[in-house]
Amino acid sequence: MTFPDTKRVFIFDTTLRDGEQAPGYSMNAREKLDVARKLEKLGVDVIEAGFPESSPSDLDSVRNIAETIKDCTVAALCRSLEKDIDTGWRALKKAAQPRLHIFIATSPIHMEWKLKMNQDEVLEQVSSAVRYAKKLCNDVEFSAEDAFRSDPDYVCRVFGEAVKAGARTVNFTDTVGYAMPDEFGKRISYIREHTPGIEKARLSVHCHNDLGLAAANSLAAITAGADQVECTINGIGERAGNASLEEIVMSLQVRKDIYHAETRIDTTQLYSTSRMVSQVTGVKVQPNKAVVGENAFVHEAGIHQHGVMANRETYEIMTPESVGISRNQMVLGKHSGRHAFEDRLKLLGFTVSSEILEKLFDEFKLLADKKKTVNDRDIEALVMDSTTAAPETWILDHWAVNTGSALGASGTIRLRHRDGGHKKLVSLGDGPIDSIYKAINQIIGREPELELYEIGAITGGSASQGETMVRIRWENRHYNGHGVSTDVIESSIKAYLSAINAMEWELAAFKKNKQ
Ligand code: KIV
Ligand code: ZN
Repeated sequence: MTFPDTKRVFIFDTTLRDGEQAPGYSMNAREKLDVARKLEKLGVDVIEAGFPESSPSDLDSVRNIAETIKDCTVAALCRSLEKDIDTGWRALKKAAQPRLHIFIATSPIHMEWKLKMNQDEVLEQVSSAVRYAKKLCNDVEFSAEDAFRSDPDYVCRVFGEAVKAGARTVNFTDTVGYAMPDEFGKRISYIREHTPGIEKARLSVHCHNDLGLAAANSLAAITAGADQVECTINGIGERAGNASLEEIVMSLQVRKDIYHAETRIDTTQLYSTSRMVSQVTGVKVQPNKAVVGENAFVHEAGIHQHGVMANRETYEIMTPESVGISRNQMVLGKHSGRHAFEDRLKLLGFTVSSEILEKLFDEFKLLADKKKTVNDRDIEALVMDSTTAAPETWILDHWAVNTGSALGASGTIRLRHRDGGHKKLVSLGDGPIDSIYKAINQIIGREPELELYEIGAITGGSASQGETMVRIRWENRHYNGHGVSTDVIESSIKAYLSAINAMEWELAAFKKNKQ
């Protein structure tokens, strides 16, 4: 069905800024660049790459992304301060489409307790900060932090000043996730009607999920005339998170009859983007998560299965294929050829270079030798490991463990170094994983803190591969690792080594930058 009055909604993704700033979701520069490339492929309009003034590594990472991404706008967050704006611009200036995103709080509680400023002072700072930013960058967005708990007429004045000073987007936030959909929609209509000059700018919304309403509030805002929504993959973000990109985009698509709105998102990339973010952050997506959770398209009850077999629409409002989940039940095995493998990759939404394809195909053959059937989740895990892992400083040669209820555990491991040579070590520990991780630490000469260790099965059943996620901490920085194998100890070793390699890669890059 076509709707002649369809309007365009702009998707501003803040996974790499608001999402990454939540505890436990940190990503290093290389991981952020990988995610940015995937967001570009997904078709978001704006990637908020970070907050450059917050740390030198954030500045470097925003710069990296700005210099790489061509197909969408790259934004950097800055407080309404000249030094933040200068740093933001240093990071952004080589971007094909740069955007400076300036913010300041407008609610009484934030102005009194955090900023210690009155309304007039804040208004003056908005105007001078936007004017300053506008001299550097044509595309300036202004956000009123905690806008929903602010006096609506004051927000209209602030937005009016921001537009007058040159902001091309004004962003209305529900920073603490307090609004209800109905009142949020009404507030957006009010802001639209009462902000002087609003027709010269895009009206954006930025909702948090403290009461589980971030996506609903964003959609209510679209109905009320918002042009842009700010959101994150898997809804990650401060506290209970931000509005989830996949929920908003699929709501607009599935209920086009209500919203008459479209985005430029390639929805078939949603699932693989979600998996990628989960993998690089080391945080699993809850199984019942709308749109991208493992159970989102699984029908368990007999009565549902019966209905779905007769007609899928009895219990499915969208197809798994529309979000990039393959319904193809055909499994691959050791006799499957390169073509079948390549076709399956395409079906799963992955396009890889011919070099990576070769590597993946070899890994697939090894896996198919160990495991009779290789399914889509196994293939996804192979691709994620090859495309998101850091270059290997330490390469696994072989390992062995000795353990039992009456014995302590001992682990032996032999690692090769990228520059040649190998080291073998035996260590004792509290169980096989501990002993082998201790042996690795002795080989690499560092003892990072293990912050997270999670193991699960990729698919159900005893033939499933084990999947391990780890997060380590070294010198106040976090590194995530992921490993899969038909052997759970090996998947644990691979995960730990991939975190170690991410750490070594970053430490080497720091050293190089200092020289
Ligand atoms: O939640 C919020 O208010 C923000 C702004 C800085 C845009 O993240
Ligand atoms: Zn936020």
